Amino acid sequence: MPPLSNEKLATSSRTTTRLPPVVWCGLIVIVTLLSFHVRPFISLHLIAQYEEAGTKICPQVDNLFPERNAETWAGARERTASEAFKMRAIDWLAGAVRIPTESFDDMQAVGVDPRWDVFATFHAYLAQAFPLVHGNLKLRKINTYGLLYEWRGSNESLKPVLLTAHQDVVPVDPSTADSWDHPPYSGYFDGTRIWGRGTIDDKNGLIGILAAVESLLQIGFTPTRTFVMAFGFDEEVNGLEGAAQLAKTLLATYGEDSFAFILDEGAGLIEMFGIVAAFPCVAEKGYLDVVVEVTSPGGHSSIPPDHTSIGMLAAMIVEYEDNPHQLQLSRESTPYRTVQCLAKYSPTMSPAAKRLVADAAHSDAALAALGALLSKDPLYRTQIGTTTAVDVVRGGVKSNALPEAAYAIVNHRILAESSVAAVRAHDTALLAPLAVRFNLTYTAFDVDISSPGARASGMLALRDLDAASALEPAPLTPTDGPDAAPYQLLSGSIRAAYAARRAAGGERGNYTVPVVPSTMLGNTDTRYYWALSRHIFRYGHGNSAGRGPEDAQKGMHTTNESIDADDLVEGIRFFVMLVLNADEWLMV
Ligand SMILES: *[C@@H]1O[C@H](CO)[C@@H](O)[C@H](O)[C@H]1NC(C)=O
Ligand SMILES: *[C@@H]1O[C@H](CO)[C@@H](O)[C@H](O)[C@H]1NC(C)=O
Ligand SMILES: *[C@@H]1O[C@H](CO)[C@@H](O)[C@H](O)[C@H]1NC(C)=O
Ligand SMILES: *[C@@H]1O[C@H](CO)[C@@H](O)[C@H](O)[C@H]1NC(C)=O
Ligand SMILES: [Zn+2]
Repeated sequence: MPPLSNEKLATSSRTTTRLPPVVWCGLIVIVTLLSFHVRPFISLHLIAQYEEAGTKICPQVDNLFPERNAETWAGARERTASEAFKMRAIDWLAGAVRIPTESFDDMQAVGVDPRWDVFATFHAYLAQAFPLVHGNLKLRKINTYGLLYEWRGSNESLKPVLLTAHQDVVPVDPSTADSWDHPPYSGYFDGTRIWGRGTIDDKNGLIGILAAVESLLQIGFTPTRTFVMAFGFDEEVNGLEGAAQLAKTLLATYGEDSFAFILDEGAGLIEMFGIVAAFPCVAEKGYLDVVVEVTSPGGHSSIPPDHTSIGMLAAMIVEYEDNPHQLQLSRESTPYRTVQCLAKYSPTMSPAAKRLVADAAHSDAALAALGALLSKDPLYRTQIGTTTAVDVVRGGVKSNALPEAAYAIVNHRILAESSVAAVRAHDTALLAPLAVRFNLTYTAFDVDISSPGARASGMLALRDLDAASALEPAPLTPTDGPDAAPYQLLSGSIRAAYAARRAAGGERGNYTVPVVPSTMLGNTDTRYYWALSRHIFRYGHGNSAGRGPEDAQKGMHTTNESIDADDLVEGIRFFVMLVLNADEWLMV
């Protein structure tokens, strides 16, 4: 795949506002900043130090090809390289896309809400499309529509591997169905791309896993290690019916810390700064929805107080927006390591920017300057800080009646190095002066912290929106040190799958792709799986193979969602590679 021109990169850097609202991994943004001119920052001797230390910065493992399973790999490589296989892969995905497994925000429980029934159709399709998987693996259905496959390995002492994906898709807005090039549930293949909702989120992942297992079974492979597949069905809502229930069964069946690693959907291969890199997410931001409610006596608005509930709430909203959480680019953080990798491998990042990144490893001033540079872009800023967005406001019922209550819902995405408690404490302290100023009693997250003098002209309360609205940032997956074997296995498999496609016929070749640890900004089904493994990766190989940051997410959650058929096949081959490598890799 030829690298995009510099012109294309320059274009990328000017078009951030057109990025779709859903951003998998924060890396996408870096290109928008570092290609600009940065004033040289610190002295040259620090650069020399950086270069000496260069081998320790963003180290890469070699392309990892199966050895004990070399023959199986050779067979699978040949099979997946054929035109017939590509056609089969297209059919597999197209058939899955034609079943509109939409999940909606207002869905009732399984068994109550008939909109879940379509998942039964989807299951029937999978059973017919993947006969060997269904003939050889143990399948349990959890909460009716959660799919839990177990492919039992011969050696019980090896920790199993968990591969996950979700069956549901974001609903298609009926008013936009006509503006798709090809209808959203057509699975239409135009000779290059397969079209439809779910082609890149996440039916490509689900079909990719099943296609890999089906192909391995077809060539007679039997695993040494156990592989488990868990497919939720409401990831796009909150995972409560799907992954949350699957998690309970997984925990009961396999136990805590029982999996060698977990791989779920996430960012893929993206081109920026003149290189294609792979961006598995090893960190994930947390989440908190806070309700800010002000109540005060009602009455006729002909005799108003100085401030109504709405007026007081407005002052609080202003306070929120005027006092964002402090940004925090720390040396140990994933975002810094992401930038370090790009600085190390990019041929086109400006020397001044590279120098700033290098200097930041030693100099607090450079680190601060780098943080300041990155914070200029909202999409990067979110990676290095807890964000605040006032998303809902309600209050008042009548133009001549004083509002007794008004509330706002404030959404936070929590910095990977912070915590729910820190964010609650920040919010509590932020509004305390206003509670005093308006003489309000003040309850913050179930604790009464009213100031002694409060004369109770009303009440201010902060609370979580609901029981599921707080999520801590995910534990960091190790990427170096003695615990990094799963990361190395994943990296080597990504690199090998990448090389195998680009060197025609799957020779080892000189095709390399750097693997760059990155941060997930949203949350996937893995939020329920923390107890199962300390090694959780969010990565989708081939779902964006080598395209620029904007193109990489084209159509995700919006119109024109589609995938290149060769990328789909590469994704399947990646799962084959990963399974064969994990099967023989020393990782208990
Ligand atoms: C199973 O795997 C463990 C760990 O690699 C190894 O020590 C043991 O010999 C294996 N058992 C068999 C029967 O191969
Ligand atoms: C879908 O793609 C076609 C061109 O390929 C374009 O004309 C159309 O506007 C796109 N739809 C949207 C909503 O972007
Ligand atoms: C709050 O109480 C103080 C006295 O405690 C009073 O002077 C002030 O007017 C009150 N403010 C409001 C907004 O009620
Ligand atoms: C890889 O690169 C080296 C040095 O540039 C070259 O000698 C070798 O032939 C290349 N191998 C392949 C398979 O292209
Ligand atoms: Zn998804």
